[in-house]
Amino acid sequence: MIIAVDGPAASGKGTIAKALGRHYRLPVLDTGLLYRAVGLSVLKAGGDPDREEDALAACNFGDALLADPALRSEAVGSLASRVSVHQVVRDALVQRQRDFATQPGGAILDGRDIGTVIAPDADAKIFVTASVHVRAERRYKDALAHGGHPDMDSLVADIQARDTRDMSRDHAPLRVADGADLLDTSELTIDAAVQRAIALVDAQLEGRSARVTR
Ligand code: CDP
Ligand code: CDP
Repeated sequence: MIIAVDGPAASGKGTIAKALGRHYRLPVLDTGLLYRAVGLSVLKAGGDPDREEDALAACNFGDALLADPALRSEAVGSLASRVSVHQVVRDALVQRQRDFATQPGGAILDGRDIGTVIAPDADAKIFVTASVHVRAERRYKDALAHGGHPDMDSLVADIQARDTRDMSRDHAPLRVADGADLLDTSELTIDAAVQRAIALVDAQLEGRSARVTR
């Protein structure tokens, strides 16, 4: 069983994917971390994220980088969004994601292109959204909780710039996959969002098994 969870920055997809993982007892891969690691690795090497060669070289990051706390920042989120426009970068990361998705027993992946490119035949697909203002507020609170000094206006601007870049790029742009259900978390608590996600996934799985049995 494969569950695809996609959506824009701070929509709540990571929180929902992890909760679905506990509910269905499936392993979860936050695919954004891979792109963030490439972005951070370009930065550490002094490269230019917009240059294809620099971004490709950074795909050879060691797995230790995946635990670097710097990966969480909005600055690295922006770098990730810049390196991820290059098809060579997406190609370098695709196998790792597909291997995770197709492991025995199933898996949950969250990102931007799980339901469209990585696992278009996923058994269930959720597209998580929330208003830009709500998403910026969530990032603001996260940054404060981690001892940062966030600025609301620049968070809104960064998230909007990232949304635009992710939705308008040529390769694997962020869009609602065929068969995905929308889940707007703007007005939902985490618990309510998770319950809704479970209900949507259960309904999709039932619909699918009904079609297979017929
Ligand atoms: O957590 P947040 O939604 O802020 O970002 P993320 O999921 O960690 O992703 C960081 C960036 O990586 C995104 O803005 C995308 O540009 C890119 N990404 C992607 O292109 N494809 C994915 N499957 C996941 C992330
Ligand atoms: O993975 P993504 O960037 O889409 O978002 P996330 O990391 O799951 O959630 C971003 C922040 O919003 C976290 O601090 C969550 O606890 C919070 N959140 C929330 O307040 N309400 C929700 N319904 C979902 C997430």
